[in-house]
Amino acid sequence: MPLELTSTGRPQDAGHEGTRASSWSRQQFSVAGWALPRNRAASTTARSTRLPPSGPPGRRASPSYGLDSPLRPRHPGCPALTGETTNGWLRVRIAAKLDSGLECIVIKALPEFPWSALAPLRDRAARHPDGIVNLALGTPVDPAPEIVQQALCSAADAPSHPATEGTPALREAAAAYLSRRFGVAAEAGAVLPSVGTKELIAWLPTVLSVGPGDLVAYPELSFPTYDVSARLAGATPVPVNLDHGLPEPAPRVLWLNTPSNPDGRVLSADRMREIVSWCRERGVLVVNDECYLEYGWEQEPISILHPEVCGDSHTGVLAVHTLSKRSNLAGYRAGFITGDPRVVQEMLEVRRHAGLILPTPIAAAMTAALADDTHVELQRERYARRRAQLRPALEARGLRVDHSDSGLYLWVTRDEPCWDTAAFLADEGILGAPGSIYGRPGENHVRLAVTATDERIASAVARLAR
Ligand SMILES: Cc1ncc(COP(=O)(O)O)c(C=O)c1O
Repeated sequence: MPLELTSTGRPQDAGHEGTRASSWSRQQFSVAGWALPRNRAASTTARSTRLPPSGPPGRRASPSYGLDSPLRPRHPGCPALTGETTNGWLRVRIAAKLDSGLECIVIKALPEFPWSALAPLRDRAARHPDGIVNLALGTPVDPAPEIVQQALCSAADAPSHPATEGTPALREAAAAYLSRRFGVAAEAGAVLPSVGTKELIAWLPTVLSVGPGDLVAYPELSFPTYDVSARLAGATPVPVNLDHGLPEPAPRVLWLNTPSNPDGRVLSADRMREIVSWCRERGVLVVNDECYLEYGWEQEPISILHPEVCGDSHTGVLAVHTLSKRSNLAGYRAGFITGDPRVVQEMLEVRRHAGLILPTPIAAAMTAALADDTHVELQRERYARRRAQLRPALEARGLRVDHSDSGLYLWVTRDEPCWDTAAFLADEGILGAPGSIYGRPGENHVRLAVTATDERIASAVARLAR
């Protein structure tokens, strides 16, 4: 069972390296039989017998992608390998070729979790005498709606396994919600619930058999999980500037996120229509993450499933919805995907095998949340008030707010590196998310969430006014 080292670092990975290296710390890998100097634990039982000293010719990990130090053999007899990245984005694959010819992948490298890099800033902000105002995470802090809590409790007696496709009531509530709020004609049978949407996004290409050699594209300034979804599948991540065109060669999957996290930009119906027809012509699956669709402010967003965007058919188009932001249910882990019924069915078949199933009490809570809009209006008022207080306070203190037309973030800049702006804010006890976490175009911006209590927002406003 010879072991083989392949590095699949690619030029666009190097782009990420440039983008994220300043903010992300060094990352090292260890694999069975080899350990890096810091000796991270290996998690595989694969045994090595033969290995060319530096990997097979032509497939060696290239220093231009950041490999810069040799792996040291952990067991005597194991040859040394290269294997340290400086940025966490290099994907190193160690695969054991089994007698059957199948490949057993024993490790896949993923980026360091972005929030880990924030620890020093968090400590700095926490030293403020009036305490930290944490605006780095977009996590809701207001109560989960009472009707939803009641629905959850009423469904607490749930001894049986739930169905992966969810309950009929949940699927109907989701379809009715999309029609009522966004003018989308969704089929209840094409609704597939998920355990929050981060897992759904991260695994979508894998579940749809996207793999090595395929491209997965996403906006170059975006939520990092689209990139992770490509890496988990073994596909090539392709960051795209949607203002400058669409990727050639065409990817298998194109992620959109309008309204966008982190900068709150909204794609117009015309632009989305163009993108959908471009994707359909090339057989590209286009998926819009509609996480912030309820939060249009200066600009009203539109669903990708709206007839103005995709016509009367959902072919080749999917929309992802979470209840985390709409209904303060981030702790419940509740979301769904809908759109092209054939693609949803394919996802259902795989997710069923993988046990990616929404718990019954959460399905009941989600059904109640989707049927009610009153709590959403209340929450919108809260966020509108907080934005209206925070925005002018930031501007008066010399920060410019760019875009931020929709969603739950203010995208601020002092036209300097984002880590400097984040440090300036941390000295006022305010923690923001440096924009480079979201890609190269974010290097001069900081993302500030309005998901903090009224009291914390008022405290931030008072500090900024000094
Ligand atoms: C754009 C976007 N998509 C998806 C998610 C994941 O949300 P959840 O997993 O809570 O559904 C987030 C969370 O912040 C997000 O910002």
